[in-house]
Amino acid sequence: MADKKEIVLSGIRSTGNLHLGNYYGALRKFVALQDDYDCNFFIADLHALTTNPDPEQLHANVKHILAEYLAAGIDPEKSTIFIQSSVPEVAEMYLLLNMHVGIGELMRTTSFKDKARKALGLKAPEAGEDSDEAFEKEIIGAGTNKRVNAGLLTYPTLMAVDILIQKATKVPVGKDQEQHLELTRRFARRINSFYNTEIFPEPYNFDFDGKPVKVPGLDGSGKMGKSEGNCIYLVDDPKVLRKKVMRATTDEGPKEPNSPMTEPVANLFSLLELTSTPDVVKHFRDAYADCSIRYGDLKKQLAEDILAVTTPIRERVQDIINDEAYLHRVVTLGAERARERAAATLAELRQVMGIRGL
Ligand code: TRP
Repeated sequence: MADKKEIVLSGIRSTGNLHLGNYYGALRKFVALQDDYDCNFFIADLHALTTNPDPEQLHANVKHILAEYLAAGIDPEKSTIFIQSSVPEVAEMYLLLNMHVGIGELMRTTSFKDKARKALGLKAPEAGEDSDEAFEKEIIGAGTNKRVNAGLLTYPTLMAVDILIQKATKVPVGKDQEQHLELTRRFARRINSFYNTEIFPEPYNFDFDGKPVKVPGLDGSGKMGKSEGNCIYLVDDPKVLRKKVMRATTDEGPKEPNSPMTEPVANLFSLLELTSTPDVVKHFRDAYADCSIRYGDLKKQLAEDILAVTTPIRERVQDIINDEAYLHRVVTLGAERARERAAATLAELRQVMGIRGL
């Protein structure tokens, strides 16, 4: 790996199996970057701890995502693949960086507010309504036995450390992570200017031809997501997958030629566009336009085209997941590489902060 290549870094939290949204939004893009960048892909198991997962489940998820990374084509010869917690330098830098992070700026982070509200059982504020006051009272208040853990608050610090400790400049993430990236840039500037150094470069999202891929769920609205329960998993077996697609939300069908599409139907077309050939898409678009479409046919086709994408991955996952020795080799090599750069960055930071020993 030539040192001159720009450093790319991204991670996925180990909270469950990967779905089609992870594949098109992340994995497939990671694979495409491997030849041109110094790529680093990791499994964010420490971030997963913020929601207190069952330990056995967490461990199984880490292993499964590793197998999915490899099955999707991330190549350990080309990219550094590692588990976040196997780089202990991250934990130390997290402590150091937190000394320069404001609790206010963390509390205003959208992802924190969403997760904290969930933990406290508060509902989201109505549009335009500002519920921050009640929300802050609930978090600090002695009147509640519910707790928002401090790890959730400092989630953005940890993510900034993942990025800054590797001095990554390109961080391919979805729109929902933009705010965390913005904070990372702010923290980098803050450290650089406070200690009058230039340790940290500012990282930016990766701009893939400017168009984010849309991977909607099967429930008629919104994007595919683990917590939404509308997912097609890469390892769904064909029977399960076909059933999910056949049950996807639609509508009563177009009544007049060239009608606009409702969201559930447009979503099925978005999935078809990702997985099918242009003439299949055209066939169904024409059928929609002249009202001859039968959603059952579209869904049957869609299920088969999705299976053509997921089946090779599912089969490779099944092979890889049982090859303990191989998985172990991959993460051992990855940790070694990731730690090398992390240790160098941490040493620089300790130095400028005056943590030098005697
Ligand atoms: N927060 C990211 C997510 O939920 C995962 C993540 C953790 C990450 N650390 C990162 C992504 C560093 C990119 C870079 O998707």
